[in-house]
Amino acid sequence: MRESVKVLLSEQEVDQRIAEIAKQISDDYAGKEVHLICVLKGAVFFMCELAKRITVPVTMDFMSVSSYGDGTKSSGVVKIVKDLDQPLDGKNVLIVEDIIDSGRTLSYLIDILDKRNPASLRLCTLLDKPERRIAQVMVDYTCFNIPDEFVVGYGLDYAQRYRNLPFIGVVNFSE
Ligand code: IMP
Ligand code: MG
Repeated sequence: MRESVKVLLSEQEVDQRIAEIAKQISDDYAGKEVHLICVLKGAVFFMCELAKRITVPVTMDFMSVSSYGDGTKSSGVVKIVKDLDQPLDGKNVLIVEDIIDSGRTLSYLIDILDKRNPASLRLCTLLDKPERRIAQVMVDYTCFNIPDEFVVGYGLDYAQRYRNLPFIGVVNFSE
């Protein structure tokens, strides 16, 4: 099986959209500090680019989750592989995610983090596949809605590869 990657969103398009979202976040959080939570590993590239362009004070933390499932579908039960280092009490928390697919991972994560008493809890995603939604999640900031295709790059992987592509691409498989 051969794989090839076709550009869906160029580096320039992605960077430009991240700058717009960062401006919106900076306006919405004016006079406040925003605490970014990166969901590892896919959201790392997005969070770095976003954080560099936010103009209000920023703090950051990282967490890693894995969903119990058959490898291709998430079951909705999330295991915390690496928890946050800092408590969330009184913080304006913004979860930064690479992609929302069924929504199961995020709806579970939001439930967990909401119990830690943040002053506010919002969600920002680079990509969203709304057609695939099973669990409802309120997304506050979306860079791009995309069709139901498997994408890689800008942090997103296929079997741990392609995360370092500077653009978002669709993987094609051929014999
Ligand atoms: P959900 O619980 O179905 O919303 O799962 C979301 C997670 O599945 C994301 O955080 C990604 O890790 C992974 N995922 C979903 N769609 C894609 C894709 O097109 N490319 C790479 N990873 C994906
Ligand atoms: Mg992810």
